[in-house]
Amino acid sequence: MRTSASQLASDITRAATRPRLTVVGTGYLGATHAVCMAQLGFDVLAVDVDTAKIERLAAGEVPFFEPGLDELLRANLATGRLRFTSSFEDVATFGDVHFLCVGTPQLPGRQNADLSYLHAAVSALAPHLRRGSLVVGKSTVPVGTAAALADRLALEAPGVELAWNPEFLREGFAVEDTLRPDRLVFGVASAPAEAILRSVYAPITDRYDTPVIVADFATAELVKVAANSFLATKISYINAMAEVCEAVDADVTTLAQALSLDERIGGKFLRPGVGFGGGCLPKDIRAFRARADELGVGHSLTFLSEVDEINLRRRDRIVQLARGAVGGSLAGQPVAVLGASFKPNSDDVRDSPALAVAALLDAAGAIVTVYDPMALDNARRARPELTYATSATEAVTGAKATVLLTEWTEFSELDPAELAETAAGRTIIDARHTLDPARWRAAGWTYLSPGRPAMPATAPASVPARATTVPATARSVPTPRQVREALAARAA
Ligand code: UDX
Repeated sequence: MRTSASQLASDITRAATRPRLTVVGTGYLGATHAVCMAQLGFDVLAVDVDTAKIERLAAGEVPFFEPGLDELLRANLATGRLRFTSSFEDVATFGDVHFLCVGTPQLPGRQNADLSYLHAAVSALAPHLRRGSLVVGKSTVPVGTAAALADRLALEAPGVELAWNPEFLREGFAVEDTLRPDRLVFGVASAPAEAILRSVYAPITDRYDTPVIVADFATAELVKVAANSFLATKISYINAMAEVCEAVDADVTTLAQALSLDERIGGKFLRPGVGFGGGCLPKDIRAFRARADELGVGHSLTFLSEVDEINLRRRDRIVQLARGAVGGSLAGQPVAVLGASFKPNSDDVRDSPALAVAALLDAAGAIVTVYDPMALDNARRARPELTYATSATEAVTGAKATVLLTEWTEFSELDPAELAETAAGRTIIDARHTLDPARWRAAGWTYLSPGRPAMPATAPASVPARATTVPATARSVPTPRQVREALAARAA
């Protein structure tokens, strides 16, 4: 029988001012959540079935690259507030609130999410839960999962309630996004569950006045996939515009700047290029589409298949540019690939457009050498068939064409004149619109990028300047304010 709201409330009230927290799963989401909750002053115990990962975390080592997380991990281990274990029994005994942070990857060969880690986590935890506690799902799940898990808990762990509290953190900004989120979403089935979540997040909401949306389970689950679908759609929208620009020799970066000045549209997630990747956006739009089919509303999300298609076509476009750059056939041609991670400030290569393009170039017969400042180890594991260099210069040396696929700052700071001396062919394909075309052209390079007209290394005097003087930024097209400031500076 399901615990009554009052029982849950009284069990938790005991620890309500500072509930003891546990985190199940210590990947990007779980490790960050555990560290940040300890940073907020909670006693936190985190568990994972991967004992090697637990040992590394307990020793103060984050098993992936996330700016700022190492320092916070070590600081919180030192206080004694943060601990790691492999025992679900210890976790069940210790915690008042248990956060489920396991992965929900795409099922191999299918579009749906793999929920086996989530169900395994509940199976491992539930038999040990002997007192009133709150289990809080943070993983991204198909709508309906929370209701099914609540039914499981009612049978397997009477006295325990479920809540759904999706996480919106971005890799590379995980600490910042966790400690200062844009909003908090509480999917709850009772007032006590909401009260407990409010007490857990009070250190954040008290400080920043963070908006809290209280919802039913289904709505809370949907917020996450709807948000990621919207972001993916926005990226594919501008990349679809890039395809149109290519047909008429227009410039998608200028188009994006102009669109971004309409505050209803905005410039964020309107950066064209090689498209989105990573452990979330691609698999989330596919799983959402698959779930909508199951629910009989597949027609409402057919556009997400197109969003996916546009995104994947951008990878082919980069290969097409590279093929053109080396004279029509990539077979036997040395090509340098700068970037392997799916975005800068991350070593994550899951569904990385950069690594996918490297593999496509390789499949077309090119001799591909990849360099990335952080993701080399992961890239080697994922694509052992490729050759890897330990610096951008090494990768570019002898290359007939160079393709920039991840916008690491290190790449925008490269000296094109220096690289021109070692490259065998001076064509740079800037798949992220992150370089200064004038600088590269002045150093003798042919600068190519998707959605922009090709121009020779030295533009004839009669060619009108196409771009505005607005500075290109790596993270997004300029904000309306930046554009106004740049225009004002030019006028002055
Ligand atoms: C995303 C969501 O932003 C986050 O809220 C959610 O919790 C998890 O998924 P993340 O995968 O870390 O976060 O990366 P994000 O910064 O969103 O970038 C996703 C991909 O889109 C990257 O490959 C990035 O290069 C690409 N992108 C982003 C673009 O191609 N253009 C843009 O304008 C923005």
